[in-house]
Amino acid sequence: MSQKRVRKAVLPVAGLGTRVLPGTKTTPKELLNVVDRPILSYIVEEGRAAGIEHFVFVTGRSKGAIEDYFDHQVELEAQLAAKGKTAILEQLLAELPKPGEMSFVRQMAPLGLGHAVWCARDIIGDEPFAVMLPDVIVDAETACLKQLIDAYDSVGGNLIGVEPVPDSECHKYGVVDPSGDASGPLVAMKGMVEKPPTGTAPSNLSIAGRYILQPEIFPMLAKQGKGAGGEIQLTDAMAALMGEQAFHAFAYQGVTHDCGDKIGLLRANVGLALKRADLGEAARAAITALL
Ligand code: G1P
Repeated sequence: MSQKRVRKAVLPVAGLGTRVLPGTKTTPKELLNVVDRPILSYIVEEGRAAGIEHFVFVTGRSKGAIEDYFDHQVELEAQLAAKGKTAILEQLLAELPKPGEMSFVRQMAPLGLGHAVWCARDIIGDEPFAVMLPDVIVDAETACLKQLIDAYDSVGGNLIGVEPVPDSECHKYGVVDPSGDASGPLVAMKGMVEKPPTGTAPSNLSIAGRYILQPEIFPMLAKQGKGAGGEIQLTDAMAALMGEQAFHAFAYQGVTHDCGDKIGLLRANVGLALKRADLGEAARAAITALL
C-alpha cells in the first residue's frame, strides 16, 4: 500500500507523575532512571529504531529538565573528556538530537492526553504520525514502534498497539472492541472505550501506549468534550474518527513495562538489568541474595 511515511512522533510528557510521588516532585517522571538512563532515553531509542525523524515533546511546567537532557552539558562533557572517561562521554553524545530533530511545545493546563496530542497539531501538519506514551517501555527484539509501522505499511489507516491484560485490569486502560477474528496480531476494530467500568470492557485488549494516527484526528480532538476522569481523551476522539477511517489493533511482540507505576518501574529496572550483558550476572546475584 502506498501512503505517506510515518516520520514524526508525539511524546506527551506533561503528566504530573502522581503515582510515583514524591520522586517526581522535582524530577519529571520521564527522567526517572531505569537501570542507568532515563525512561525517555529508551523511548527515543525505540522511535529512532523505527525511523522517526522528528520528536515532538508536549511538555508542561516544571518539565524543563527534559529539554536540558537532550542538549549538551558542556561542563560535564569537558570533565569527562579531561578524565579520559570516553565510553560514557561517547554514549552521552550519541544520544543528542541532530539539529532540528526535536521540538518542544507546552501544554499549559493538564486537560488530558487528547488535549496534549492536539497541542502538537501545527508541528505534525498534514501527515500520519506516531504517539508514544513515555510511561511505557517495551522490551522487544524488534522495536515496538517499528513493528507497528511495518503493520501499518500493509493496512494503512490508524493503528493502535494493544496488549492483552486480565479482565480485572481493563478498567485502568483504554480497551478496543475488535470487529472480527481476534486470534491474529492484526485485528480490525469497531469501537474502543476509555477506562471501562469493571465487567463492561468489550475485550481484554488494552491500548498500550503506541499509536499511528492520521492527521484527521486533530479536528476530532478540537471538538472533543471531556470524557473519563473529566479529561479530553484521545480514545474518545479516535472512536469518533472510526466513523470515517479504518482502525486496526496490533498486538506487538515484547514485554511491556508501565513505568508510571511503582511496581512497574521496579519491574522495568529488574527486568532490564537482568538482560544487560555488563550487569545481568551481578544483578541476578544481588536479587537472589535479597530473596
Ligand atoms: C492512557 C490512555 C489509555 C491507555 C493508557 C496506557 O491512560 O488514555 O487509553 O490504555 O494510557 O498506559 P493513562 O494511563 O494516562 O490514564
